[in-house]
Amino acid sequence: MSTTNTTNAQSTTRQAAIEDAVAKVRRNLEQRGLAFPHIASEKRYDWGANEDWIEGFHTGLAWLCYEYTGDDFFREQANRHIEDFDRRLTERVCLDHHDIGFLYGPSAFAGWVIEGSEAHRALALRAADLLMERWRAPGYIQAWGPEGDPKNGGRIIIDCLMNLPLLYWASETTGNAAYGEVAVRQAELSRRYLVRGDDSSYHTFYFDQTTGVPIGGGTHQGYHDGSTWTRGQAWGIYGFALSYRYTGRGELLATAKRMADYFLAHLPEDGVAYWDFNAPVTATTNRDSSASAIALCGLLEIIAHLPEEDADRQRYGEAAARAVDALIRGYATIGEEAEGLLDHGSYHVRGDLGPDGYMIWGDYYYLEALLRLERGVPGYWYER
Ligand code: GLY
Repeated sequence: MSTTNTTNAQSTTRQAAIEDAVAKVRRNLEQRGLAFPHIASEKRYDWGANEDWIEGFHTGLAWLCYEYTGDDFFREQANRHIEDFDRRLTERVCLDHHDIGFLYGPSAFAGWVIEGSEAHRALALRAADLLMERWRAPGYIQAWGPEGDPKNGGRIIIDCLMNLPLLYWASETTGNAAYGEVAVRQAELSRRYLVRGDDSSYHTFYFDQTTGVPIGGGTHQGYHDGSTWTRGQAWGIYGFALSYRYTGRGELLATAKRMADYFLAHLPEDGVAYWDFNAPVTATTNRDSSASAIALCGLLEIIAHLPEEDADRQRYGEAAARAVDALIRGYATIGEEAEGLLDHGSYHVRGDLGPDGYMIWGDYYYLEALLRLERGVPGYWYER
C-alpha cells in the first residue's frame, strides 16, 4: 500500500535505492558484528559500544531489512543487538536521559511488533518504566541529566515527542493509564511552549524545577536560542502526528501540519533542509539530510490520518514525493563504497561535532520512508 501516487519510474528508482540500502546494512552488520555506529566528524562511522542515544537506529535498520527481505540473517542480528540492549538497561549504561524511545523503540519494541515475543515486550515495558522515572513533579519529562540538575533539571526538548510512543503503547498493552497520561501531558506541554505562534519551534524550553513556572525557550544544537533548529522542527512534525495517532486529539495533528507547512515553506531550491532555518546561507552552510528524512516520515504519518477527500492529502503527498526524490538524487550514497545511506546529515554544527556526514538516524528514517512508500511498512513507533 502506498500513501502517495507514484509513477512506475519513481517506484523503480526507489526500489533501486532500497536494494542499495539493504546491501549496505548487510555489509555493515557482517563487518562490524556487535559494534554500533557512533557519530563521527568525518565521512564514516566510528564503531563502538552501545552507550549513546542512537544505537536503536542501527537495530531498526536490521529489522527494516528483515521485513523487506525475509532473510533470517537480519532477524538474528537484530536479536543479538536486543540482548545487548537488555544488558544495557540492566546495567543502566548511559540512560540518564529521555531518549529511551529512540533506543528501545526500533530495537525491543520492533522485535515485539515483528516477532510477538514476550521477552521483547517485557524489555520494551522496562524501557517505558525507565522513561517514566524522568517525569518531574511540576509536570514534565526532564530531557537530560539527574533530577535537580542546576542547568537541565527544568528542561524539556522537542525531540522527546519521538519517545512518547513507547509510553502510549505501554498504557495500551498493560491497561495502566499512567504511562499515557504522562505522554499526553508532555505532548500538550510541548505544543504550548515549544511551538511558536508562527509555527516554528524552540529546540528546548526551561521551567522552574520547583514551581513549574515557565521560564523561556533556548537551544542546544540550533543556531541561536530563538532560531528554528531544522531537526527539532522535523521531530515535532513526526512526533505530534504520532501523538495524534495514539490520542486522537485533533490539536496535535493540527500542530504537526502547521509545523510541516513551516518546514516546507522554508526549504531551499533542492528540497533538502539546511541545519537551522535561521542560519545564514552561504556556499558552505551545512545541510541536515537527516532532518529532511524525519520530516518526510512525518509527512507520511500525517497523510495516513487524513481522509481521502482532504485537500492537504494531495499537497503533502506531492511534498513527500519531492522530498524522497531529492534525497535519492542528491544525498543518498547509492553505488558508493560508503557505510552510511545518506550523506550530508549534521549532528551539532555549532559544536563542530558531526557537522557533515552520515547520521545513523538519517539512514534509518530514509529507509523507513522508502519502505513506507514502497511496501507500506510503517517503522517502529506503533503497534500494527
Ligand atoms: N535527539 C538528538 C538529536 O536529534 O540530535
